[in-house]
Amino acid sequence: MELAPGLLLLLLPLLSVLADPSPSPPPEPCELDDEDIRCSCNFLDPQPDWSSALQCTVAVDVEIRAGGRNLEPFLKRVDPEANPRQYVDLVKALRVRRLTMGAARVPAPLLFGVLRVLAYSRLKELTLEDIEVTGSPPPTPLGPSGLGISSLRLRNVSWAVGGAWLPQLQQWLKPGLLQVLNIAQAHSLAFPCEGVRSFPALTTLDLSDNPGLSERGLVGALCPHKFPALQDLALRNDGMETLNGVCAGLAAAGVQPHRLDLSHNSLRATSNAGDPECVWPSSLNSLDLSFAGLEQVPKGLPAKLNVLNLSCNRLNRAPRLDELPKVGNLSLEGNPFLLTGASFPQENTMNSESGVAPACARSHLAVGMSGTLAVLQGVRGFA
Ligand SMILES: *[C@@H]1O[C@H](CO)[C@@H](O)[C@H](O)[C@H]1NC(C)=O
Ligand SMILES: *[C@@H]1O[C@H](CO)[C@@H](O)[C@H](O)[C@H]1NC(C)=O
Ligand SMILES: *[C@@H]1O[C@H](CO)[C@@H](O)[C@H](O)[C@H]1NC(C)=O
Repeated sequence: MELAPGLLLLLLPLLSVLADPSPSPPPEPCELDDEDIRCSCNFLDPQPDWSSALQCTVAVDVEIRAGGRNLEPFLKRVDPEANPRQYVDLVKALRVRRLTMGAARVPAPLLFGVLRVLAYSRLKELTLEDIEVTGSPPPTPLGPSGLGISSLRLRNVSWAVGGAWLPQLQQWLKPGLLQVLNIAQAHSLAFPCEGVRSFPALTTLDLSDNPGLSERGLVGALCPHKFPALQDLALRNDGMETLNGVCAGLAAAGVQPHRLDLSHNSLRATSNAGDPECVWPSSLNSLDLSFAGLEQVPKGLPAKLNVLNLSCNRLNRAPRLDELPKVGNLSLEGNPFLLTGASFPQENTMNSESGVAPACARSHLAVGMSGTLAVLQGVRGFA
């Protein structure tokens, strides 16, 4: 039999009924809320009841996790290049706007086949989490249509093709629509930039939680001149070391963000002697340096900012005016100098291990743990 793969995730019951009818049903892997808005499935059972996913066809927010399963066997049962037109009406009728797929090993032809079918849906936001993509993608789809999403999020997705995944995936997207791109826990952020097309509508690029990136990897990840509309750039917990290094990376990549989040990087306050001074993008008006382990105000800040966040650092004294840029909105809460000498004894207000204010203490652990990731920590390994 021949089935387009896109329906696989939503119509898995068909396949399983045809393949091997399962006996007594274990607890429901899928849950649909009373408003028919959110539906989430977690197929942890070794013999999952795929038919449970049928209820998700009415939901707007759908999350499907395959229990770390290897989906390669499904490739034998479907034809990823089958003409999706036979399913178009069905896919168009889906209410799904936000889809999360996760916890699986997926052959690239199957994943891209799913994207091809989803191009007929009204999906706006796609998230892939904890996925290993094996093999190479099929040739670029024919026809002008692509996936018309405005937001794409990837967390812990590995690709057999390495950094080439970005230009390959881009060819399956409708050009010029993507506004938000998040890539966390990436296995490769060294993109072959000459193959990457411009993202003309992309305003938010979030590369946070890639601790191996560092300023040395920045230019490879921020393909030069591919993000002309960028406003928000997040490089949280990315192993950045110096402001000068980041500034030089931004300059080399030609990005002009308005807001830059460098929180949760262990920044050195001084740059190496002999490092050239860097000119920050003139568009930059907000800089987040919270949780950066700073013991003093770092050198090399932009000369003028609307917002500067130095919260939750280790500043032992109030910054002098000549150390700070011209700034409209300065946050300093959670620094030791604001706590010592207050009405509490120091040992109660300070975390003795790290010298970090209590209000700031939780966050170092929370780095990289988004809600779903934390909830699904239990899911590991491939079945
Ligand atoms: C990342 O995804 C793989 C599956 O591709 C999974 O085995 C691993 O546990 C995930 N890592 C984290 C930190 O969640
Ligand atoms: C500064 O950073 C802290 C810690 O991340 C955050 O709680 C606070 O809201 C930020 N302040 C501003 C003004 O953005
Ligand atoms: C400072 O920034 C914070 C967060 O962006 C905002 O809530 C606050 O109103 C700002 N304060 C001023 C004086 O602009």
